[in-house]
Amino acid sequence: MNKDYKVGIIGVGYVGIQLVIQFAKKKIYVECYDKDYDKIKKIKSGKSPFSYINDSVFKKISKNISINKNFKSITKCDAIILCLPTPLRKNKPDLSQIKDVWNELKNFIRKNQLIILESTSYPGTTEEIFVKYLKSNFELGKNIFLAYSPERENPGDKNFEFSKIPKIVSGINEKSKLLAGRLYSKIVNKVVYVDKIKIAEMAKLLENIYRSVNIALVNELKIFSKRINIDINKVIDAAKTKPFGFQEFRPGPGVGGHCIPIDPLYLSWLAKKHSFNTKFIELASRTNIQTTKWTINQIKKIIKNKKIKKILILGIAYKKNIEDTRESSGVKIFEKLKENKKQIEYCDPFVNKYEFNINNKPVFINSKKNSENVFKKYDCFILCADHDVFNYKKLNKTNKYIIDLRARFSNEKDNKKIIYV
Ligand SMILES: NC(=O)c1ccc[n+]([C@@H]2O[C@H](COP(=O)([O-])OP(=O)(O)OC[C@H]3O[C@@H](n4cnc5c(N)ncnc54)[C@H](O)[C@@H]3O)[C@@H](O)[C@H]2O)c1
Repeated sequence: MNKDYKVGIIGVGYVGIQLVIQFAKKKIYVECYDKDYDKIKKIKSGKSPFSYINDSVFKKISKNISINKNFKSITKCDAIILCLPTPLRKNKPDLSQIKDVWNELKNFIRKNQLIILESTSYPGTTEEIFVKYLKSNFELGKNIFLAYSPERENPGDKNFEFSKIPKIVSGINEKSKLLAGRLYSKIVNKVVYVDKIKIAEMAKLLENIYRSVNIALVNELKIFSKRINIDINKVIDAAKTKPFGFQEFRPGPGVGGHCIPIDPLYLSWLAKKHSFNTKFIELASRTNIQTTKWTINQIKKIIKNKKIKKILILGIAYKKNIEDTRESSGVKIFEKLKENKKQIEYCDPFVNKYEFNINNKPVFINSKKNSENVFKKYDCFILCADHDVFNYKKLNKTNKYIIDLRARFSNEKDNKKIIYV
C-alpha cells in the first residue's frame, strides 16, 4: 500500500463512522459519502455527528478526510467500503439501499479498485449484487477486486477497542481477500481469513442469531423465575462462575437496534426459500417481541396497584450510552403507556427529541433534563436504557418508585420502592 492510498466509505452511520475514524487516525486518506450530507459536513468541521463520540476525535483527524456530494471523486479511491443499512420490509430483506447506491456508483468504478461490502445480509448477497456487472466490465479478481468483511462494532461500548476485535475477511478470489486483509490489518490487530464470501456473510448472521437465541432464553427464564419467586440475575451470577461452556446473557425489556431484531430473520427468510424452517431463530424472535409486551403489561399492573400518576422513562435508546432508538423497547413502552393516557415523559441525554407514533399519529416530544430538580416532579421512574450518565445513587435516595428493567438496582435490598421487572 503506497502512502497516497485512499479509502472511500459509503454510508457513514454507526458502522461507517468507525472506519472513517480508524483509517484517518492511521493517516490513510478517507473520502466520505453519505446521503445525509449534513452529517459528513459535521465530521469535516471537527464535530461529532454522534453523541457517544467526542468532537475531539474528529478535530484531530479532519485533515485526513474529504466529504463528497456525489460519486465522481470515487475514482481517486483505491478501496471502496459500503456500510449501508439492510433493514427488513414486510419480513423480507430489503437490500434496496445497497442496490440503489451500486447502480449509481458502478458508473464511476475504474480498474484495480477493491470493493468491499460490510453491511450485514444473507449468504450470497455480495455475489448477487456485484458480480454480474464486474464480470462483464472487468476481469474480476485480476483488474477489479471484490471482498466482504462483516462489521463487529458495538457502538457506545468502551470495553472493546476497535483494533482489538478480530476482523473476518473474505474475497471473491485469493487476491481480493488478501488485498482486503492487507487494508484491514492497518486498523485491526488480527485479520481472520475465510475461504468463501458466503462463509463470512453467514458467520455474521450466526453471531447475531446466537445473541438473539440466548437473550430470548434468559428473557423467558426471567418471566418464569418471577412466577416462582427467584431472581434470575442472581441465578446468572451463580451460573457464570462456571469457567467453561456458559456465556452470560442478561434479560431486559426486549431486543432493539439494527442487528438483533433483524439480522436473524435474514437467514430464516433464506431458509424458507430453500424449504427449510429455522425454528430456533423464529422462536427467539417471537420470544423477544413477547418479552416487551409482557414488560408493558407488568408496568401497567404496577402503575395501577401503586396508584402511580406521573412517570418518567429513563433512556429511550435501545441500549445504554448511545442515541440509537431503532426498534427500541423504551420507545414501545413509552408509546403504549401514552396511548393508555398515562402521564408519561422521558429523559434521555442522548435523544433530545423523538418522533413517537402515538395512536398512529406522529408526535414530537422533547427529552426532560437529566437533573435532580426536574426528577422531583415524578412519582415513578422506569429505567429502560441504563445510561451511565444517570445518577443512580441519587435516584435510589428519591424514595419514588423505580421500575427497573435492567437490574441496575438489583443490589439495593433496602429500598422497597424498587421493583425489578
Ligand atoms: N449498528 C451496528 O452496531 C452494526 C454492527 C454491525 C453491523 N451492522 C450492519 O452494518 C450496516 C450499516 O448499519 P449502521 O448501523 O451503520 O446503519 P446506519 O443507518 O447508522 O448508517 C447507514 C448510513 O448510510 C447512509 N445512507 C443510506 N442510503 C444512502 C445512500 N443512498 N447514499 C449514501 N448514503 C446512504 C445513511 O444516511 C446512514 O448515515 C447494516 O447492514 C447493519 O446491519 C450494524
